[in-house]
Amino acid sequence: MNILGIETSCDETAASIVKDGRWIRSSVVSSSLGEHKKYGGIIPEIASRRQLEAINIVVRRASLEAHCGLPRLDAIAVTRAPGLIGSLLVGLSFARALSFTLRKPLIEIDHVQAHLYAPFLTDAVKEKAAAGRPGLPTIGLIVSGGHTSLYLIKSWTDFKLLGKTRDDAAGEAFDKVARILNLGYPGGPVIDRMARHVSDHPLAFNCAELPGTYDFSFSGIKTAILYYHQKNKNQDNTQKTHIVHAFQESVVSILVKKCLAACRDFKSHSLIVGGGVAANSRLRQALGEAAISRGIKVFFPPLNLCMDNAAMVAGIAYHRLKN
Ligand code: KG4
Ligand code: ZN
Repeated sequence: MNILGIETSCDETAASIVKDGRWIRSSVVSSSLGEHKKYGGIIPEIASRRQLEAINIVVRRASLEAHCGLPRLDAIAVTRAPGLIGSLLVGLSFARALSFTLRKPLIEIDHVQAHLYAPFLTDAVKEKAAAGRPGLPTIGLIVSGGHTSLYLIKSWTDFKLLGKTRDDAAGEAFDKVARILNLGYPGGPVIDRMARHVSDHPLAFNCAELPGTYDFSFSGIKTAILYYHQKNKNQDNTQKTHIVHAFQESVVSILVKKCLAACRDFKSHSLIVGGGVAANSRLRQALGEAAISRGIKVFFPPLNLCMDNAAMVAGIAYHRLKN
């Protein structure tokens, strides 16, 4: 079964053809991120205009690269929400028109759930051993620029939300801290790189614990860093490196803690992590180490599938269609 996925929730315009919910036959991503950098964040108006310009080209290329003409598709899947309304509308309208014209079923997908499907995809023609994939139910953590949520995934059509951020998303906190320290946008990859070179220093910033819940809060630590920065002006690069290191350690530590608590409480021996912040090297290392000692296997998507893409949309849609 060949499904075309379309993803336009933010600044990426993506299309992909995935076979049988698993094999990526093509995955094309066009991003307007470069144009937003000078504003220090995504400008929705620019993002949706670029979506409109790119969508046709990106879908055509996905079809060409997969050697699969659009009439040969079995279904069309598209991100329905959450995201920027203007950007979402481009993909949704395009997919609905395509579905109507080609008389193919249309499957509308939740962007956050799609992120958690990314570790199930492969670009290999032959299926990898099933042992390389988590069984269900499992715990899923989504950490991105817009979301930080923990789910119990009972099946690919049954997600139970356990907890989420009460204010900023983790990726948003990375971006805002980078902005405070004038490190550029997006902040996640910069902070990840800078913090790699630090081991010991006296700084510590704490995230709110919110005990007894699976909820997160990252706005407090961001404000603490803002005040610290205002008090200690003219920081050199070494001092900034210490700040971002302390920040990252605290964010990673709370993410690890809540994931392990959810796995323990729901007796899950596997954990899936998705979203842009899943690319963070310290999170990958810390979660991997903490989980292994408790007999939990952690599944991270490959780096290219951590970011927004359409393969994850087409992949999860397969299960919805089968249902
Ligand atoms: O999943 P994504 O494209 O956005 C949403 O769907 O919301 O993720 C983008 C976010 C940005 O906030 C970016 O700073 C963060 O992911 N990010 C990272 C890293 N790479 C990207 N955060 C921490 N470490 C990274 N290596
Ligand atoms: Zn995303």
